Amino acid sequence: MRSFYITTPIYYVNDKPHIGHAYTSIAADVLARWHRLSGDDVWMLTGTDEHGQKVLRSAAARGLSPQAHCDELSVAFRELLAVVGVQNDDFIRTTEPRHSTVVQATLQHLFEQGDIYAADYEGWYSTAAERFWTEKDLVDGKCPDSGLPVEWVTEKNWFFRMSKYADQLRAWIDANPGFLAPESRKNEVLGALRKDIGDLCISRPKERMSWGIELPFDRDYVTYVWFDALLNYVTAIGYHPDPAKRGPDFARRWPASYHLVGKDILATHSIYWSTMLFALGLEPARCLYAHGWWMVEGRKMSKTLGNVVDPHLLVRAYGAEALRYFLMREIPFGGDGDFSHQAFLTRYNADLANDLGNLAHRSLSMTEKWLGAVVPALDASTPADLALEALAEQVATGFRAAIEAAQLGRALELLWELVRAANKYVDTEAPWALNRNGQTERLAGVLRRCLEVCRVAAVHLAPVCPEKSAELCRKLGLQGVVFADHGSLNGLRAGAPVLAGEPLFPRLLELPEEIASTLAAALAAEAAAPAPVKASKPAPSPKPSPSSPTMSENTSVDAVPAAPDAPAPGPALIEYDDFAKIALRTGDVLAAARHPKADRLLVLTIDLGEPEPRTIVAGLASTYAPEALVGQTVVVVANLKPIKLRGVMSHGMVLAVGGDAGVQALATASAKVGPGTVVR
Ligand code: MSP
Repeated sequence: MRSFYITTPIYYVNDKPHIGHAYTSIAADVLARWHRLSGDDVWMLTGTDEHGQKVLRSAAARGLSPQAHCDELSVAFRELLAVVGVQNDDFIRTTEPRHSTVVQATLQHLFEQGDIYAADYEGWYSTAAERFWTEKDLVDGKCPDSGLPVEWVTEKNWFFRMSKYADQLRAWIDANPGFLAPESRKNEVLGALRKDIGDLCISRPKERMSWGIELPFDRDYVTYVWFDALLNYVTAIGYHPDPAKRGPDFARRWPASYHLVGKDILATHSIYWSTMLFALGLEPARCLYAHGWWMVEGRKMSKTLGNVVDPHLLVRAYGAEALRYFLMREIPFGGDGDFSHQAFLTRYNADLANDLGNLAHRSLSMTEKWLGAVVPALDASTPADLALEALAEQVATGFRAAIEAAQLGRALELLWELVRAANKYVDTEAPWALNRNGQTERLAGVLRRCLEVCRVAAVHLAPVCPEKSAELCRKLGLQGVVFADHGSLNGLRAGAPVLAGEPLFPRLLELPEEIASTLAAALAAEAAAPAPVKASKPAPSPKPSPSSPTMSENTSVDAVPAAPDAPAPGPALIEYDDFAKIALRTGDVLAAARHPKADRLLVLTIDLGEPEPRTIVAGLASTYAPEALVGQTVVVVANLKPIKLRGVMSHGMVLAVGGDAGVQALATASAKVGPGTVVR
């Protein structure tokens, strides 16, 4: 049995989980399920990263001890896995003794090996921001975050000799072309490796930040959160620096087959983690795969927009299986994408309801009606049959190659080529005509092939939509998902009972109510949010002495520049050109009514000085009675793409004042102006 060990990043418990976390976990689950079905010895690991300043701050903000805070949030991450159908084999928390004791043993080992040394670290320290800044980051000599004075601090710290292993890493990347994926992200790492990567500061003085694993050789310090977190990939499978103390599975599982990570943390994984492994005499994982970033409705995900893609809401509204399909299919794995509900509806209806749902439903219904509801016998193949058979084999081979290279979107795209070809086959072979003309043998052969394509689709879809796949297999008279004869159009048992039943994926005519109202409220709150005041930069690296080690705060990687398009951790400044793209206009509210299908929405008729007034749906019903709005002058985003909200097309957006807590007031003009006046 081939070992297949796959990991996700361990997620920070500084906030509740969101769609980005669900995405990586689902992708890992899909690969794990594929390999499990293929008979491999699979182990999927995920978990939570619980130390460091970010988590400490979140706990303090909630008035909880860090451990109590972590205990609570870690459960939320664990629950999310069940909600989105992830079957992980293990879940590690960095506060568990099985992790922290091995981290300490590893630190001690590296210390004794001479790979950890003490040195002075100097820089501008801001007590308010609890971090170091470089000279050029300061604004008027003060902390750019708090505006408060900074002081020059010289601090003893502990450093890992990362630079010692840089050449080994360069050679590893050269010798293992599949190590960093996708290819497009490799350059980022290679670029960083062209420079001196320095050594890595792996300690934090307890007096500054005590929420971490104590250094075994210096009790005044805790371990830097990344050094602690990265080790989870080996501590969870029984690693110990002393080979005699390793768990029974370690040798079999390591090196991992995949570390799936977001592009934001490719650098930490490729440079910090690989050099740490080299120092421990271990090989890196076979593949470090960095996937892209999800935006939401065309914007960077904010707390407010996060609500419209809250995985719990999405699962309630669409079901876990459709969500998994959309996330895996909508963007190539590795690329960036946008989660738009309209795109979700389109993809769901086109692929799941129409293409696959329709093929299954009509093939099964015709078999029920005309062929006694049992799998019919094959007849002699015609050229059209042979073409379909060849395509099925080709798709199965391509699917396997794609999924085993983590090309998840590509794999599904290929599978749908077959599903669509089968729908065409139904249209051209016209089983209804065969039935009418009494050509029963041919009718049986044609429908058998259609049912066989459904089987091939169900088998391949199993890792992505496990329940729908099993349901389809049952309808086809199989006991469950039988993962054999992948591309063969002769995998069913003639005579087995079939059942059309309810459609697998019922058509979604419009956005579900809960989605529509959450979306309208979030878009209104986004529009009302105050303009960002400053760009946040990655944490700087103060000039340390001696040599050039690296100290970074929780998430940032100073040794390596983040991907140019990596999301900034806070609000980002925009160019004037970006702002100028938004057409803001005044509008007079001519009429207002409650939305017939959504409590939180109003349907407004607004005069923008155009030939026809516009219909705009707004999430204002919790604050305003419709009558109160008639006659008001409002500010409208006039060039927003129209969107259907609970069955009503909305042609723009009304700006309102108020954040996450809801709308507090309308944005309006302080003097009487005509409709359609430009606002800027
Ligand atoms: N704790 C570190 C990782 C340590 S691994 C040893 C961390 N945690 S995190 O909570 O910030 O999660 C980061 C991961 O969540 C990303 O790498 C990515 O896998 C996923 N995502 C978070 N937001 C995302 C999007 N908007 N889009 C796609 N994935 C995203 O970094």
